[in-house]
Amino acid sequence: MNSRKQLIDSLLNELTLDEKIDMVHGTGAFHTGGIDRLQIPPLVMSDGPMGVRKQFTDKTWIPCGKEDDYVTYLISNTALASTWSKEASYKAGEVLGAEARGRGKDVILAPGINVQRYPLCGRNFEYMSEDTCLISEMVVPFVKGVQTQDVAACVKHFALNAQEYCRMDVKTFCSKRALYEMYLPHFYASIKEGNAYSIMGAYNKFNEEQCCESKALLKDILRDEWNYDGVVISDWGGIHHTENAYHATMDIDMSVSQDFDNYYYANPLKEKIQNGELSVDNLNESVRRILEMMYELKMIGQQKEERKAGHFNSHESQQAVLSAGQEAIVLLKNDEKHLPLNKKNLKKVAVIGQNAIRKHSNGGGSAEVKALYEITPLLGLKMRLGGNTEILFGEGHDLPTDTESYRAQNEVASWQTSSVDIYEMRIQRFIKSKTSGIIDDDFVAWNDEKANEALQMARECEEVIFFAGIDHDIESEGIDRLSLKLPYNQDRLLNEIVKVNQNVTVVVLSGSPVVLGEWKNHVKSILWHSYLGSEGGLAVADVILGNVNPSGKLPMTFPLAEKDHPSVEMGEYKWDENELYFREDIFVGYRYFDKKNKEVLYPFGYGLSYTKFEYSDLQINDRGENVDILLTVKNTGDMDGADVVQIYSELVEVDEAFKELPYCVRELKAFDKLFLKKGESKHITMTVDKKQTFRFFDEEAHAYRLLSGQYRISAGHSSRELVCSAMIEIGSDQ
Ligand code: BGC
Repeated sequence: MNSRKQLIDSLLNELTLDEKIDMVHGTGAFHTGGIDRLQIPPLVMSDGPMGVRKQFTDKTWIPCGKEDDYVTYLISNTALASTWSKEASYKAGEVLGAEARGRGKDVILAPGINVQRYPLCGRNFEYMSEDTCLISEMVVPFVKGVQTQDVAACVKHFALNAQEYCRMDVKTFCSKRALYEMYLPHFYASIKEGNAYSIMGAYNKFNEEQCCESKALLKDILRDEWNYDGVVISDWGGIHHTENAYHATMDIDMSVSQDFDNYYYANPLKEKIQNGELSVDNLNESVRRILEMMYELKMIGQQKEERKAGHFNSHESQQAVLSAGQEAIVLLKNDEKHLPLNKKNLKKVAVIGQNAIRKHSNGGGSAEVKALYEITPLLGLKMRLGGNTEILFGEGHDLPTDTESYRAQNEVASWQTSSVDIYEMRIQRFIKSKTSGIIDDDFVAWNDEKANEALQMARECEEVIFFAGIDHDIESEGIDRLSLKLPYNQDRLLNEIVKVNQNVTVVVLSGSPVVLGEWKNHVKSILWHSYLGSEGGLAVADVILGNVNPSGKLPMTFPLAEKDHPSVEMGEYKWDENELYFREDIFVGYRYFDKKNKEVLYPFGYGLSYTKFEYSDLQINDRGENVDILLTVKNTGDMDGADVVQIYSELVEVDEAFKELPYCVRELKAFDKLFLKKGESKHITMTVDKKQTFRFFDEEAHAYRLLSGQYRISAGHSSRELVCSAMIEIGSDQ
């Protein structure tokens, strides 16, 4: 018998019912109970995806307010996905794991991997992409990176978490096919390939059941179909009934209230076991899984001494965040090769917009971070430009004062403790604007004085750099956005600025799609920045000044208008009944725009570079189980840089048997990021698994099957710019 099994069996033997109960529920805001006499420590958890959250007092959501919990602020999950770099994802995971361990945590409640289905979802920045292939490829290295540090990743939120409005009880309905093709594969990859030790249930309902109590999701799919033997943790307050969660094999009940003994898995579970209503078997299984995870994390057993200590705010973490941030920036427009700006010629620059000086780390909900520092774009530009360039700064517009960040300036509370009334007010505004159709999405009045000052600066300077976009008062856990439009009268101000200056660069900050005003046709350059962490200001300065060649690609489609989006045009939301139907089915994100042949603002996978990359000689090598895709990539421009080669499949002729089956026009199947010096070329090979790549989910057979027919495999610069291709025939598996 191996020592792990021996140890765990003997602990299970010794543990009393009370002790087991302590191990499966929160006995503090962020930990379960430890059993001193058996040297089983409590399991200590922390948010979240953008860095290790500040320290709370043991039993409350009140921050300790000490000086010892400042950390590195990581780039958002959306930004990470925008790098399309598996190496950057691994590195980000490693940093998050090291910082979590450094702060004494065992489980880090990250990454968020729900599909960005709805462009106005307040938590999109915590999620990676609208595409399951991109999420799968990025989440696996991330989880591995975290877990090298003896910390468990906790992928969240399982499953179909797509919007914040009515988040605790909205019923989500989606076809089995869409579930298995679009919403589950990345969760599957995170636990099968990434080996995520834990997973978090979602707040929403799956059909009629709470996800945290869903037998269909947790027992039938996760445990029985996928054989998952890791730890399932509830979202905080996601369990509503003891029996349901228990039968569904939920392992740990966490919540937001302080009556820890009354948690569903505390006294209520104990009583039901004692009076024979529930068998103790599931509890034993949960405790076994928790102990196994603890063993892997070196929390118990002889290897305790070898557990990594971690570290936070190390130079290494900061460098990793800078380089990921640089790679995440997406160049959306660059007329006349306006960027990069030449530092030597820059004598006087106008920097405009609140986002030039705004810090974003302390907002967003549970993803808030108490950052050791956050370099704003204005500071970053000054640090990189030095003293020979004069920079004028103007706010240009007001910001609302009835918000979370306005309060957070005093650092008196956590998001949970202070947000209730603000969010209630904003939810009422949300409902009002949705039901009346009158949307107050500017939030503040036009400020003549600030606008005129900005315009005057724009007249005086050779260059204008406008830091536009949204922030965590608009994009946050707990509330969806009101519209895709930029708030705070930014469109109006930019429309004025382009009349007085020809050299305008706009940096748009957001973790989800936005629509841009008329000014977009008159500015020279547009960059997209999706919350870039502690070093964000430097990362963006580096791209603007050409120290780094941009290589980010959009992980989601930017539509021309909200109504064009599948989740809005096709999705159906019943306001009065809290029911959300994913009627666009498998046509999520770009799959829908392509099917309808709709014009978009920027397509999925889009992003420019300061150099040019050419693809040639695409060949396919069908090796039976696997298919190799080979091609040559050449940097034909005049600057070194990184490129993301995207591989899409298109089913051009479907076999007779599937003539009636709806299928997507094109789908991302693989990608690779590589760095090429100017003039350099490389031959690359990407390998895909045939069964996973050319499949559909057959609802009747309840199984994936090959979707046989003739496929075109193309390499492209985006989902709408495919440049070379070859054909492959996929036979039937019947
Ligand atoms: C969020 C989770 C988070 C948890 C703990 C919940 O409100 O949905 O993502 O991990 O709180 O803070």
